Amino acid sequence: MPSQQLSALLAALLVIPQATAQARPQPAAATALRQQSLEFGTAWYPEQWPESRWETDLQMMQDAHMNVVRIAEFAWSTMEPSEGRFEFVWLDRAIALAAKHNMKVVLGTPTAAPPAWLTTKYPDTLRVDENGTRAEHGNRQHFSFTSPTYRRFAIRIAEQMAKHYGHNPNILGWQIDNELAAPSFDPSTRTAWHAWLRHHYGTVAELNRKWATAYWSEAYDTFDEVPMHSTHEHPALLLDWKRFVTDTWIDYVGVQVAVIRSNSAPAQWITTNTMHWFQGFDHYKLHVNLDLAAWDDYYQEGHLDVVRNMVQHDLVRGFKQQNFWVMETQPGFVNWGNVNAMLPPGVVREMAWQAVGHGADAVLYWQWRPAPNGQEEYHGSLLGGDGKPVPVLKEVARTGDEFARAADALRGTEVHADIAILQDYDSHWAVTFQPQTIKYDYETEITNLYRAFGMARPIDLIAPTADLSHYRVVFAPGLNVLPDALAQHLLDYVRNGGTLVLGARSGMKDVDNALQTGGQPGSLLIAALGARVAQYYALDKPQPMLPAGAATAWAEQLETLDAGTRVLMTYGKGNGWLDGAPAAVEHSVGKGHLIYLGATLDAAGMQAFLQAAKLPLPEPLLASIPADVEVMERTSPQHHVWIIENHGQEPRHVDLAQPANNLLASQPTAVKSIDLEPHGVAVLEVVK
Ligand code: GAL
Repeated sequence: MPSQQLSALLAALLVIPQATAQARPQPAAATALRQQSLEFGTAWYPEQWPESRWETDLQMMQDAHMNVVRIAEFAWSTMEPSEGRFEFVWLDRAIALAAKHNMKVVLGTPTAAPPAWLTTKYPDTLRVDENGTRAEHGNRQHFSFTSPTYRRFAIRIAEQMAKHYGHNPNILGWQIDNELAAPSFDPSTRTAWHAWLRHHYGTVAELNRKWATAYWSEAYDTFDEVPMHSTHEHPALLLDWKRFVTDTWIDYVGVQVAVIRSNSAPAQWITTNTMHWFQGFDHYKLHVNLDLAAWDDYYQEGHLDVVRNMVQHDLVRGFKQQNFWVMETQPGFVNWGNVNAMLPPGVVREMAWQAVGHGADAVLYWQWRPAPNGQEEYHGSLLGGDGKPVPVLKEVARTGDEFARAADALRGTEVHADIAILQDYDSHWAVTFQPQTIKYDYETEITNLYRAFGMARPIDLIAPTADLSHYRVVFAPGLNVLPDALAQHLLDYVRNGGTLVLGARSGMKDVDNALQTGGQPGSLLIAALGARVAQYYALDKPQPMLPAGAATAWAEQLETLDAGTRVLMTYGKGNGWLDGAPAAVEHSVGKGHLIYLGATLDAAGMQAFLQAAKLPLPEPLLASIPADVEVMERTSPQHHVWIIENHGQEPRHVDLAQPANNLLASQPTAVKSIDLEPHGVAVLEVVK
């Protein structure tokens, strides 16, 4: 293809924001999702096994109370064994057999694993890494996400599948690709990158102005001179690279979504499976054009980090601000950690119910049975290589039985939170490109807030641009990139009665990752707060805080500019510059309160801050619960369902505020208190 044609194609493919195409789930898909109760199942790879074995497997799944299988996401070479020859008869039979066993199906498009005939005949489809090395066949994710040839084949297989299965009543929905991850640095990406920059900036002079390229003589004469880099570059380039990669993935997914939507029944929803905090693209933007968020929940060292898992579930729930799926989780252990230890007995069940408590409507294990050969022979599974159950299958089957019992009560319920924490990709990226200290970690700051709020208050973890109007309290730790439009949105929330806490490192950068010329946290917020950040300090030692606690990694010396600004906390004696300076300040704005907290705090410091700030926090769902017990709530207009878990190693007794119906008892019974064994779970229904 002549290069001009190629660039026109890429420009057409990549620079038109696809996200607006289907900004909301199609109504029928949304209804289908709401009507779902609890799905329970596994990844299954019929293409890896003789057909004579399929029924045995499906019967065993059914015996384990499973009702859904995800299939086909790596089966391209079986569905299209040679170019343009499609073979779906085997898949028809697998889906029909699944239906016979009351198992619904999620179909994956197989584009994470192109067949050898494709990459051999069209080597331009192969991914090139940042060092310029082209991938070879024999692994997965070895495709270029911008290759026009690859797009053609990806669209065609997705379209063929949709034409074939788009009206099959046993197909619940679609998963596009699998764990979108690695961008490519091949020539077609370079062309697309330059087209993206041209579209974004119009003229190279504008790019030079925004990026301030007089610095180090970095000025560009043409867009084509701008290199492709993902680390160790100019911060504006790095941020734009992430935005470009995001738009490219949106487009990559979008073209598959388009052919599936136009060839399928509206009730079939579309998702992709993501990896919690993965920083490769902006997940909020990617999910605009998807009906459902889904993620893969793994703990490689065999120790569940309960709070981290809460945060990750809430993060994924926030992608679309609706219930989500756990598309994959480990039946005990994985094969890609340093020591792939097994989760202790009870924890697989504990994890499944914790997911539901945070808004999951499905939990699927990866995988049913290890492939007879291949890279993942050692991964945990529910059957062994011999096709016989492994010990954890009993625990999984018990969980499946419980899901079936609680399904009706959970149908149509959602998590409702009065507290929001804002999470922002631009900001996360910006502080990662220029960390200034290895002690500051964006995810840890968010996780520490969760720890401070305890395990009995629902929290939403959402994008800063989301509607904030119904939250009592909004926290924005490290909202580093804070352009005026966003500041205005936050101030509107506060003026209307909200309480906003901006955490350390907030408002330092504008949309181009440049320092705010009006100072930190930006002129609009400085005016509203009556205070500014006079200087920031990366701490090599903790800085004592008054009245209590210590600043850990980062401390900002605040300066008040207005008589109405109230100082909530100050620094004690430490690095000298900070000693005695304001560390947290508050100002009323309209009907609400704007607070700036300039330090990352240890647990004691955070409790002191919460007291000093007198935040209108909601009461915990249950008062006086043991520290290792988590209380989760899902609600519908008619009732609440509480999921209570003992994450500790000792038995725990929990008194309930009102009698509740124990949904996991063999006969639903009213209870006023519950006793939980270590890793124990109770699921209770409270009628309003
Ligand atoms: C996921 C992937 C699965 C499987 C699993 C093993 O990242 O989507 O295909 O490889 O990891 O833990």
